[in-house]
Amino acid sequence: MITNYSFNKVQGCGIGLRLEHFEDINAQQPKIPWFEILSDNYLIEGTAQRNYLYQLRNNYPVTFHGVGLSIGSTDPLNMDYLKRLKKLKHEVQPAWVSDHLCWTSAHGIVTHDLIPLPYTETVVKHIVDRIKQVQDFLGEQIVIENVSSYLQFKSTEMSEWNFINEIIRQSDCRLLLDVNNIYVSAQNHKFDAEEYLFAMPAERVAEIHLAGYEDRGTHLLDTHSRPVTPPVWDLFKKAIQHVGHVPVLIEWDNDIPSLERVIKEANKAKSIQQGVIV
Ligand SMILES: [Fe+2]
Repeated sequence: MITNYSFNKVQGCGIGLRLEHFEDINAQQPKIPWFEILSDNYLIEGTAQRNYLYQLRNNYPVTFHGVGLSIGSTDPLNMDYLKRLKKLKHEVQPAWVSDHLCWTSAHGIVTHDLIPLPYTETVVKHIVDRIKQVQDFLGEQIVIENVSSYLQFKSTEMSEWNFINEIIRQSDCRLLLDVNNIYVSAQNHKFDAEEYLFAMPAERVAEIHLAGYEDRGTHLLDTHSRPVTPPVWDLFKKAIQHVGHVPVLIEWDNDIPSLERVIKEANKAKSIQQGVIV
């Protein structure tokens, strides 16, 4: 049961909550300003995981981050999923709810992969309509994240940064700016990461994501399995110039190291944000 909702302001550099760290967080109560929780993992009531979240929420602010919205899909919105998400949101009161600008399901089949979209006016309209429906249902603005990609569509009519700007402007949602994803896609598709970054609507950025990729030779893969790389730290410094001091989050989902190692990465982001590391 949650007894303390007073910590719901998210600021500074947080980390993604992972099952592997539950015990250490309980034992150490580390000085982490906030956690991002993978909301899809907590949608079933009565589970030990959900109870852990209630317990954690008494001590830390949280944000929700999902992959189940599938905002770009042509399937109808999954109202059962949204109802569960809304109930969890009501109970836990996250600072905000985020998901990805992609599709993860089609014809009722869920892939769990973040599949990119063709950047066209038709797709902009489709997604804007769906974001508005989700925002009306949840009763608040949602936050949408730019994804990394490994393919492009012949039907694309505009740059990814123009596509994102149009969706945010027309739907009145906010942006989760994943700096690593910009870098990965820029390398894979040979565009200028800084042109993309500085085209982002700074006033709409709710949060920044940082993570580590793997170099597979022919392409970079967004694995969230490594420390943040030097060129992504450099792009992060430029992102701070552009958007200011918004909350920053370290994502580490594979080859998950100790809690201390992830916190060290968050502290590095904090030092850069505060100008201690230049
Ligand atoms: Fe991300």
